[in-house]
Amino acid sequence: MAKTKSVYFCNNCGAESPKWIGKCPVCGEWNSYVEEVVSTKPTGTVKTAYHSEGGTQARPLHINEIKTSEEPRMDLGDQELNRVLGGGLVPGSLVLIGGEPGIGKSTLVLQTVLSIKGRRTLYVSGEESARQLKLRAERIKHDSPDCYIVCETSLEDIFVHVKNTKPDILIIDSIQTISTGILESSPGSVSQVRECSAALLKFAKETATPVLIIGHINKEGSIAGPKVLEHIVDTVLQFEGDQHYMYRILRSIKNRFGSTAELGIYEMRQNGLREVSNPSELLLTQNHEGLSGVAIAAAIEGVRPFLIETQALVSTAAYGTPQRSATGFDLRRMNMLLAVLEKRVGFKLAQKDVFLNIAGGIKVNDPAMDLGVISAILSSNMDMAVESRICMTGEVGLSGEIRPVNRIEQRILEAEKLGFRRILLPHNNLKGFDSSRLKIEIIPVRKVEEAFRQLFG
Ligand code: TYD
Ligand code: MG
Repeated sequence: MAKTKSVYFCNNCGAESPKWIGKCPVCGEWNSYVEEVVSTKPTGTVKTAYHSEGGTQARPLHINEIKTSEEPRMDLGDQELNRVLGGGLVPGSLVLIGGEPGIGKSTLVLQTVLSIKGRRTLYVSGEESARQLKLRAERIKHDSPDCYIVCETSLEDIFVHVKNTKPDILIIDSIQTISTGILESSPGSVSQVRECSAALLKFAKETATPVLIIGHINKEGSIAGPKVLEHIVDTVLQFEGDQHYMYRILRSIKNRFGSTAELGIYEMRQNGLREVSNPSELLLTQNHEGLSGVAIAAAIEGVRPFLIETQALVSTAAYGTPQRSATGFDLRRMNMLLAVLEKRVGFKLAQKDVFLNIAGGIKVNDPAMDLGVISAILSSNMDMAVESRICMTGEVGLSGEIRPVNRIEQRILEAEKLGFRRILLPHNNLKGFDSSRLKIEIIPVRKVEEAFRQLFG
């Protein structure tokens, strides 16, 4: 007979414990354990072939016996999303789209399902009413004859609707709001999220129907609740961006059917999200001719090169302790670059306030941004503008050397395409590189001092 008992789950990583503990021994998080009532079914002992009753229909196949047929992928009509998924949605896959509340996950998914032609989609919403969804659909001006909407939070009822509607794509918005009756814990708890996703996974694999799950992110930036969710699904996409800016980035964190280096960029408009196919143009709109403290860096995020404006402001510290602040760039890395400038190039920046800003509210992790950051800081420090048709790329090492960066050719071609006349790049990148076909002038630099002389004479 089924009995009920209490167990405690870590809200952060999903670890289980029979009693409450203050600090999770698995992930180290404090005060993350919550009580959940689970019913325990009497479990039998494990039976294997070594025990008398074990048996199985399947047999191990030799790897050469297994047939692969290239699964046709579903075109979602959204080039950014298609690319991030690795070329479209794979039938039978379970995709998790995570992001902070209000970032635009529901908008992204709704406008995608509304623009799919000739496929029946079922959008299950546990967060908004059908009227709210309709209003949103009207706002984004998409309409589809094949999109069905249902507001439901019970997993069992969702499967009833699925049986009646027979959708080609199923959307769950969001996993934290749905629950199954077999567990007594509340929606959004670790065991509910785990159980519901496992049921959805089984459905996806058995019927070859792709399922898109929306999930919230907690304050630490991981998908809320358990990490287990990330292990269950095939693909994890993260939708991120700054609430105050209109750019949104769709990043692939895990993908069983494609590369995680892909990246999609969107712009949040009054009427929904717009795909941004050429990010550089969007990040370089301002005319900065003659302005000091601005430098253009040729960066790569994911697999796409783009040119991005870096702005710096250096001023004498008003208070005893100089302030340092960076938006869109790692503050520790900026401090390291300032130390290099101080020690190796002899700029006295220790008593200066330094503010750094990457245009568009975008976060860039590419180390090749270093040279752009340094140029912007030096330009502001001396109040001399960097020539506007010049851009730069290169990682800066601790001794002030400019280190080579990856995929230099892509960066150069992007700069050339956007009409830049000159590009500063690491000297070591030029080995075996043929630049005779290029219109853009290439200026190789070995050290920060050299780059400084090139830019400011
Ligand atoms: P939403 O998709 O509800 O976010 P999530 O599902 O991730 O919580 O997006 C909500 C935000 O998007 C809201 O603050 C307003 C903005 N928005 C627009 O700017 N334009 C639009 O056309 C829509 C539909 C939303
Ligand atoms: Mg939502």
